[in-house]
Amino acid sequence: MAINFNGVARFYNFSEKFFFGNLLDRSRNRFLNYCTKINSILILGEGCGQFLIELLRVNEFCEVSIIESSSEMICIQKCLLLEKDIDRVSFHCIPIDELIVSKSFDLICTHFFWDCFSYREISTFLPYYTKLLKKDGIWLNSDFVDSDNRLLHADFLKIRLMYWFFRITTGIRARKVEPFYHHAIKNSLQLIDHDEIRSGFIKSEVFKKSLN
Ligand SMILES: C[S@@+](CC[C@H](N)C(=O)[O-])C[C@H]1O[C@@H](n2cnc3c(N)ncnc32)[C@H](O)[C@@H]1O
Repeated sequence: MAINFNGVARFYNFSEKFFFGNLLDRSRNRFLNYCTKINSILILGEGCGQFLIELLRVNEFCEVSIIESSSEMICIQKCLLLEKDIDRVSFHCIPIDELIVSKSFDLICTHFFWDCFSYREISTFLPYYTKLLKKDGIWLNSDFVDSDNRLLHADFLKIRLMYWFFRITTGIRARKVEPFYHHAIKNSLQLIDHDEIRSGFIKSEVFKKSLN
């Protein structure tokens, strides 16, 4: 079954706030300072558009491409756009494995996106997307830190519950959050900044592409 977030799109934002308050927003926006002087940005799986709106606010000139497989999520994102920003966002309603582009980007964002994929899937997709990043380009990533040692902690129980729910409703096959860092360094991305929220429960990372 292909991954499809259409069925959960309308209450995704509400559930996020109910379970995690503003923790995910804090994490997505933690390194917005890297976005201010950038021209071309690619976002994979933007969801309800919370990050997109902040991005367009801090950078009034950038052009943004979004790859998002859920038409409902794209609808929600479009509703949030201000009229003046409409022309600088292009939406591609396709799964990441179907995108073929000739363009390269100064910055790529993946917020709470890789948690939908297994280790093998990330290993398959990432080389293609790192090639789309220009040399010295920046990659922003945030996600939960899924630690076996802390499974009884309430936050980690929420992650298990979240996987159970999304596996049933969206068809994701992943069962745990794979650390992006290991995949990133294998693909010439160098960690240049990072931060943790709520004692390491969520991590925000900034990578720079070291090779062409
Ligand atoms: C867990 S949500 C995260 C959304 C958002 N980035 C955030 O910070 O909350 C994953 C998003 O990726 C999208 N998605 C999942 N699989 C995808 C795929 N193969 N290609 C493109 N988008 C995908 C979903 O539709 C959803 O909007």
